[in-house]
Amino acid sequence: PPDLTRRQLWTAGGALALAGTLPGRGHAASATSVPASLRLTAEPARALIAGDDQPATAVWSYSGSVPGPVLRVRQGARFRATVENRLDEGTTVHWHGIRLPNAMDGVPGLTQPSIKPGGSFAYEFTPPDAGTFWYHPHDNGLVQQGRGLAGALIVEEREPPRVDRELLWVIQDWRLTRGTQIAPGFGGRMEAAMGGRLGNTVTVNGGVPDALNVRAGERVRLRIINAATARIMALRFEGHRPVVIAFDGQPCEPHEPAGGRLLLGPAMRADVILDMVSEPRRRYAVIDDFYGRSAYELVALAYDGSAPLRGHPLDAPVRLPPNPLPEPDLATAERHELALQGGMMGGRGMMGMMGMRGAAWAINGMSMTGRGDTGMPPLLTLARGRTCVLSLRNETAWWHPMHMHGHSFRVLTRNGTAVAGAEWGDTVLVEPRQTVEVAFVADNPGDWMLHCHVMDHEVSGLMGVLRVA
Ligand code: C2O
Ligand code: CU
Ligand code: CU
Repeated sequence: PPDLTRRQLWTAGGALALAGTLPGRGHAASATSVPASLRLTAEPARALIAGDDQPATAVWSYSGSVPGPVLRVRQGARFRATVENRLDEGTTVHWHGIRLPNAMDGVPGLTQPSIKPGGSFAYEFTPPDAGTFWYHPHDNGLVQQGRGLAGALIVEEREPPRVDRELLWVIQDWRLTRGTQIAPGFGGRMEAAMGGRLGNTVTVNGGVPDALNVRAGERVRLRIINAATARIMALRFEGHRPVVIAFDGQPCEPHEPAGGRLLLGPAMRADVILDMVSEPRRRYAVIDDFYGRSAYELVALAYDGSAPLRGHPLDAPVRLPPNPLPEPDLATAERHELALQGGMMGGRGMMGMMGMRGAAWAINGMSMTGRGDTGMPPLLTLARGRTCVLSLRNETAWWHPMHMHGHSFRVLTRNGTAVAGAEWGDTVLVEPRQTVEVAFVADNPGDWMLHCHVMDHEVSGLMGVLRVA
């Protein structure tokens, strides 16, 4: 079993001695920007994810890089990507959070055949919404994403808010052996029935984080993508007051996160405005303390001691322009309940799922597993154009970031209490025993996946299809 903590690894890598001075590999937001028409190759590669003086890790990459290249497209512009498969197993690319035509959604057996080794597939769509999105495989996702396949897809606003700098953090979580190779044993039954495969090395933009150099008084727009397969994050910015301006790419009322902790389940994103303080000390930690005692420093903000850019926060609006989302009509909504079931229950063993095709979880008693193409009927069929209020009732003892394809939803209530702002999202983190209501207009025809984005949970039963017809 893996026994390296990220901290040990970090120290072993000697990065500590350099903290505060390194520019930070890949911290720039658009280092690998590509034109709107591109080739993306899923292929094995070697990457220095564990530190520059550690052995390179054998990974699966998009076009040789981990995370994959940062793709940028203008809102409303045509996006084209030809994906070539140079892995020795089938793959697809799913454009997470983009409201696109069903045939472009990248789900094998549902929206397209899996791209065979040596084959390719041309994706083409026009993203209606600006925001922070991402892409990842949807075939054998637990393993493929766990080996590194994930990248950012940024859809640029026509008029972005004024900032001094934009930064992107694509966060991944790896379970590495002492030789800094990806530990085998994906899909362990016990892990699947609990919190999923947590790693021991958390990377930002493909490297073990060191310090990020910032300047006093500058305003940064920080796009954060939790591209981990299982790790939930609760980020605290020591000495700073982050203002969230978007969740899952969708603008929200600018606000500081509740309790100063930015909670991001796997697949979730936040756009944050970070005003650097004007009279700083040298170094502030960004800490992830979701798992309590195993809190760790994700990265540090290091002030370089130069004169502040300005003596007070930039006086410019941070609110993002709205996206053209269809507004749910609650008065005429059809209402459905989806019960999330299974997993280990404290002291009482499994919640009765074992045996069903290796399932550990179920939605309304049904367990779609593996690659998902099991020919199971849809969980629900929704009338096209109607508002749907989905009640996600988590009967389990575990957290589930529930994701729906092809649509964004408003998060209406948690345990019956209205959520401030009814924020939009495509993935909602449902606490143990919590019921969350989301609402959306089922305006995008086709068969759409709805699943937990803890990849171990997804492939072991917490997955199903919503049909919009
Ligand atoms: Cu991020 Cu079904 O996907
Ligand atoms: Cu998705
Ligand atoms: Cu889950």
